[in-house]
Amino acid sequence: MTDLQVVILAAGKGTRMKSTLPKVLHPLAGKSLLGHVVDAAKALSASRIAVVYGHGGEAVPQAFATSGATFVIQEPQLGTGDAVRKALPVLAASGVTLVLYGDVPLIRASTIRKVAEAARDALCVLTVVLDDPTGYGRIVRDAAGAVKAIVEEKDADAPTKAIREINTGIIALPSAWMHDWIQSLRNDNAQGEYYLTDVIGMAAAVGRPIRTVNPDTEWEVMGVNSRSQLAQLERVHQREVAENLMAGGVTLADPERIDVRGTLACERDVFIDVGCVFEGNVTIGEGAVIGPYCVVKNTSIAAGSKIQAYSHFEDAKVGPDARIGPYARLRPGTELDEDVHVGNFVEIKASRLGKGSKANHLAYLGDSEIGRNVNVGAGTITCNYDGANKYKTIIEDDAFIGSDTQLVAPVRVGKGATLGAGTTLTKDAPAGELTISRAKQTTLSGWKRPVKAPKNS
Ligand code: UD1
Ligand code: CA
Repeated sequence: MTDLQVVILAAGKGTRMKSTLPKVLHPLAGKSLLGHVVDAAKALSASRIAVVYGHGGEAVPQAFATSGATFVIQEPQLGTGDAVRKALPVLAASGVTLVLYGDVPLIRASTIRKVAEAARDALCVLTVVLDDPTGYGRIVRDAAGAVKAIVEEKDADAPTKAIREINTGIIALPSAWMHDWIQSLRNDNAQGEYYLTDVIGMAAAVGRPIRTVNPDTEWEVMGVNSRSQLAQLERVHQREVAENLMAGGVTLADPERIDVRGTLACERDVFIDVGCVFEGNVTIGEGAVIGPYCVVKNTSIAAGSKIQAYSHFEDAKVGPDARIGPYARLRPGTELDEDVHVGNFVEIKASRLGKGSKANHLAYLGDSEIGRNVNVGAGTITCNYDGANKYKTIIEDDAFIGSDTQLVAPVRVGKGATLGAGTTLTKDAPAGELTISRAKQTTLSGWKRPVKAPKNS
């Protein structure tokens, strides 16, 4: 909707969070509450997004410096109507204006699109019927069912309090009406605040049509006021992500024990065991198996790979049919070709391993280029850093690196070379030869172990 502008109210104090971080910057699924709302607004292609903020100094605008949103400060906070009034100077008087809350993170783009579209020639309120409406503004209708007003809990008499249809706070209306009505809000109510909800009564008084729309689920319109509510909504969101994964052909050992903080795209027949955390952009290819308690960030894992428990990935690319872990750590810049094996306590950084290569136990491979069918023995370390600069290690195809070898970079191991166990390689190893740096083994025959001197009594 190109003629749509969105106002996000985010100036509330968030006292119950007991935090120095402004409430709307607290993360849900790795993204701030406000970030979720801004993204929903962006999905509607709004021409302008204005955020009304109040607490935490410039932390909120700074966190959204590149979002394209406009920031307006509201200080002091005199109510939701006053918040919208503060945004009026940056809003056009044409098209439709949609009001969202910065602390209602799970609102769906499809829902607010319905609200905005219903508001081209009417005022539209997103409402929901709750078993316990306590605390919310009530939707008051006349005998014919037309909305007449929204009455806040604190201003409501007993019959009004009995109404279970409540205002979610999300409303939309033609911008021209809003510009008119916001100016004439008054604060002669129980809380001494300027209520945005009073525009509903104004619309009814002059005979403007008022519509209501309902969300698909109650969770969409729930706000975060405490850490407990934040945790509840986090679980709701994660459960939804889990359901979508399963609907797409992924098996989850337990849909209650997966956390996706970003986007996880899986092909079919992926299996994910319990306790895994996915961050940023992660893709997993067909039939891959992710063992328990893995942490996977900005990484692609190709089809058929098997990842065992407690493995960590960050900015890595894992080729098809890999065998990784348990307890492997692939750091940024790791690229594994097809059929690579990386075993327990192996750390790899800024390195490529060619097809069929293996590093099965206790190794550190940094800034290295490793060809095909290379065997890296247990305890092998690339000494890539001299305390100031980093250097490359190159290991060509079919090389065999004996256990407990140190490769002091820059250094190259030629094609098919073998390094004897315990070698400290400081010069290039020629192709096809055995290179070894090791003190010759000797035996001192007849040597006796020392014995303890007798104690003085
Ligand atoms: C508001 C609605 C109520 C609705 C409820 C839904 C009004 C008068 N009442 O009540 O009908 O049922 O939300 O949760 O609108 N905010 C500002 N500046 C302010 C005050 C609030 O930016 O001066 C922001 C808050 O950060 C929050 C939102 O507006 O995101 C709602 O504020 P809140 O105090 O929770 O509103 P309620 O009084 O609960
Ligand atoms: Ca509230």
